[in-house]
Amino acid sequence: MLTRRQIRMLVHRHGREIIAHENMMIERRCYQHGAVTTFAHSIRVACLAVWMADRLRLWRRVDLRSLIRAALLHDYFLYDWHDWDNGEHRLHGFTHGRAALENAMRDFGDLNHVERDSIARHMFPLTPLPPRYIEGYLVTMADKVSATRETLSPDRFSKQPKAPGRGVAVRRPALPSAAARNRRG
Ligand SMILES: [Fe+2]
Ligand SMILES: [Fe+2]
Repeated sequence: MLTRRQIRMLVHRHGREIIAHENMMIERRCYQHGAVTTFAHSIRVACLAVWMADRLRLWRRVDLRSLIRAALLHDYFLYDWHDWDNGEHRLHGFTHGRAALENAMRDFGDLNHVERDSIARHMFPLTPLPPRYIEGYLVTMADKVSATRETLSPDRFSKQPKAPGRGVAVRRPALPSAAARNRRG
């Protein structure tokens, strides 16, 4: 059985290209549920989907790389759905799977059919068509479990307010001071 650490390493290995993409900065600045950003939510969904596949012993039937990539991109709609934006996102629950797929195809054009289907249909049963592949069911189940946990977490009361037009502040690693740089030569 995979450990948490092994699962995180798998997600980072197979999702490296996605995690490193510049548009992930948008996900890092937008809240998804409670005090959790869309980026953190997507990583959680990917880890949980891998954990489910492992505990259900599905490795003969599941493509790990497609599962991780679909999970990381399932909410790649690239806006904060809490923002009013002149009512543009009123139907967010029904439309964002398709928006995420369109953005993912634009930024990572080589998506396979499992990844495409799992992203587009992850909101089932809110949207009418169920996923076609096991990977899609794992993504949709992991998403619902993560969303419920994040929404009900007491952490939501310590949510950091967003600065107008800036989104959630992104923590960056501190740069070494000039003195420290000089010490290293
Ligand atoms: Fe979603
Ligand atoms: Fe989600």
